[in-house]
Amino acid sequence: MKILVNVALPYANGPIHLGHVAGAYLSSDIFVRFQRMKGNEVMFVSGSDEHGTPTTITADRQKVSPQVIADKFHKEHMEAFSNLDIKFDIFSRTTYPEHSDTVKEFFLDFYEKGILTEKTMVSPFCPTDNRFMPDRYIEGTCPHCKFEEARGDQCDNCGRILDPQDLIDPKCILCGTKPEFRETRHMFFRLDQFQDQLLKWLDTRGFWKQNVLSFTRNFIKAGLRERPITRDIEWGVKVPLPGYERKRIYVWFEALIGYVSGARILSEKLGKKDYWKEFYFDPEARIYQFMGKDNIIFHTIIWPAMLMARGQYNLPYLVDANEFLTFGGKQFSKSRGIGYTVDEILKIAPKDYVRYYLASIMPESSDADFTLEDFQARVNGELIDKFGNYVHRLTSFVTNNNLTISSSESVLDGKDKEALNFAKERIRAFTELMEEVEIKKALSEWLELVKYANSYFNSSEPWRLIKSDMEKCRSKLYVSLLLAQYITGMLYPLTPSTAERIMEKIGSSRYSEKGFTMEIFSREDSEFSPVKSDPPFEKLDIIRINPNFVDLRVGRIIEAKPHPNADRLYVLKVNLGDSDIQLVAGLRKHYTEEDLMGHYIVV
Ligand code: MF3
Ligand code: ZN
Repeated sequence: MKILVNVALPYANGPIHLGHVAGAYLSSDIFVRFQRMKGNEVMFVSGSDEHGTPTTITADRQKVSPQVIADKFHKEHMEAFSNLDIKFDIFSRTTYPEHSDTVKEFFLDFYEKGILTEKTMVSPFCPTDNRFMPDRYIEGTCPHCKFEEARGDQCDNCGRILDPQDLIDPKCILCGTKPEFRETRHMFFRLDQFQDQLLKWLDTRGFWKQNVLSFTRNFIKAGLRERPITRDIEWGVKVPLPGYERKRIYVWFEALIGYVSGARILSEKLGKKDYWKEFYFDPEARIYQFMGKDNIIFHTIIWPAMLMARGQYNLPYLVDANEFLTFGGKQFSKSRGIGYTVDEILKIAPKDYVRYYLASIMPESSDADFTLEDFQARVNGELIDKFGNYVHRLTSFVTNNNLTISSSESVLDGKDKEALNFAKERIRAFTELMEEVEIKKALSEWLELVKYANSYFNSSEPWRLIKSDMEKCRSKLYVSLLLAQYITGMLYPLTPSTAERIMEKIGSSRYSEKGFTMEIFSREDSEFSPVKSDPPFEKLDIIRINPNFVDLRVGRIIEAKPHPNADRLYVLKVNLGDSDIQLVAGLRKHYTEEDLMGHYIVV
């Protein structure tokens, strides 16, 4: 089957952080690798979203041109993804000329079909800068919550969507002048014309995740209106109409078309000019769209409506969006120093530890929280203690005894068959879940099998059998190695480079002949010649690698009360200078309440 996987084009205005990775980029890469394992023909497309106010605001703040910002972050994005083994077939740019050509083609097609209409609207105009200002360039006091730095499009304090005309005391963020509100003409996309067609189509998408469907239905229920798709701005794709020389196409409208232009550019590069059509026009092909939840309606309503308007194009088969990743309970924020960028985390931990952990907490059905303690616990406890140790103990036993193990010399007993059936069940469930992009659940099937393999190996006691029953010993090792091959194969989409390394260690003939395909999971005629090597993983020690993680402070006890349900404990209130914290301490045998009051302690 032909599968096109598109991931939301990240804005070229700041570094990629783990929130972005967990939102869409990792899940799409895992999905692509899994589909390739299945032998499907996959095209994997993303790129930098370089236009619009996200980029110009950063550029204006740093007093450089938007192109400088876009170039810098495009390069950084490519490196960040590649360092995490997220491998696109093309990571395109919306500043490529081929992109503007494609956008122009879409725009004119809509124009000729009467799906665009021109209307007058009122926009903020700065008399000092002598130009119309995008909504985000106006700040003022929020009329709802009185927050003084509300933006013209939204209040960051109360979250309400605003119009710049709502703001009390509006100011241009560049020069501080009070804007005038002037009339300006823009092109509107007649989204309202697609309401029925969209609803009908959504009725066929019942297999999508609940969060995506409910977001979309609620949005349509509120009624679809025509949307302005041009802006009074200089940084963007030009509007191919007379009278629009000083206007540009709205960044969202044009970035979505990046999925098509990206596929076209890749096809050119591959020397197969029309290759992209096999994904967009052949009804048998499937298109998967991945994104964070804040981008859902663009991909379930606006982009499908644009494709419907073109006719002939395939609509997305599946739109998959994750919820948000928080860091210690807070929103990731570069400016407030909360959370890690890809660069930062890779200084602390190897890429596959990051991939493993993010996959294991993937925010698929609700927000998930990244904490360093949990990161360390999962990696050390699961990937290293359960999986790495298993493979290492097993392969060391085989190599220390100079054995090679093959199916031909094995005679399976009831327990062995039971083990292989258990594995078959887990692999079946894993495969189904991966197909549905339920990565976190798929990973828990993997962990079940790893635990099972550990106990199978332990209870088989090959170290005892090797002295008494060589045939049985070989059979037990064969099954153990087959289980190792399975769990490593399952891990491939999640942590590809680790899986390759471990497969070499296991010395599986099937892997050396075929690489990572579904045949890794078949049962017959594997041969194993494990390689003697060191334990495959180094434990993660977040305290050693990140000394800042230990936060010790002196505080003063300002209240001590006996714990209501435990006679050895006190409940203490400790003042840390700028805040109070509450703790429970097992000090009742040693100190009275009066002893403790006013004392300084380290917390
Ligand atoms: N740049 C947007 C964001 O990061 C996503 C654009 S998706 C595309 O939120 F479809 F427009 F490319
Ligand atoms: Zn507000």
